Amino acid sequence: MISMKIEKFKMQYYYEVMELWKRAEIGVGSSDTKEEIAGVLNRNPNLFLIGREDGKIVAVVIGAFDGRRGYVHHLAVAPDYQKRGYGKIILDELIDQFRKKKVHKIHLFIVKTNHEVVDFYRHLGWDTRDDLIMMSYVPDKELYKRNITFED
Ligand SMILES: CC(C)(COP(=O)(O)OP(=O)(O)OC[C@H]1O[C@@H](n2cnc3c(N)ncnc32)[C@H](O)[C@@H]1OP(=O)(O)O)[C@@H](O)C(=O)NCCC(=O)NCCS
Repeated sequence: MISMKIEKFKMQYYYEVMELWKRAEIGVGSSDTKEEIAGVLNRNPNLFLIGREDGKIVAVVIGAFDGRRGYVHHLAVAPDYQKRGYGKIILDELIDQFRKKKVHKIHLFIVKTNHEVVDFYRHLGWDTRDDLIMMSYVPDKELYKRNITFED
């Protein structure tokens, strides 16, 4: 039986969450340093969530709202807890938070070849967009290139 409790992320959970992301094979990068994570948390204090069971963090998701659209980043469930309903529970809680903020639409990005995750979201009612192309631009290449380590 699932007894996961959802909590707001706090900076003191940073290293445990980084471990979880790595174990779940989430690609962490220059936007995941302590400083950057503190920044996204400060802007979205109610949308950055963790799920805890038996004292351990077993799920995490970063929700973000830019004033127009909602975004889901880095949703992950600990590998030994996957496929048991945890991902849906934490995502549903985030969607409730977006609903409270009257967000009209939520977007997320998945590496194209990650069919499993695409299928997971499709199963939960998310649509893939064939009418759009995502484009990106790096305004500061030094900033973006910076590798992160646990000493960050
Ligand atoms: C993607 C991820 C968060 C899903 O979490 P999860 O806890 O394993 O998924 P759940 O058990 O909550 O699944 C919820 C529902 O989706 C279904 N589902 C899960 N994976 C599925 C898949 N690959 N294809 C189709 N349906 C799937 C489940 O059967 C369940 O259906 P139900 O509610 O009808 O019973 C988790 O597998 C994960 O952490 N993956 C690695 C990290 C990752 O790639 N994250 C995405 C970054 S973009």
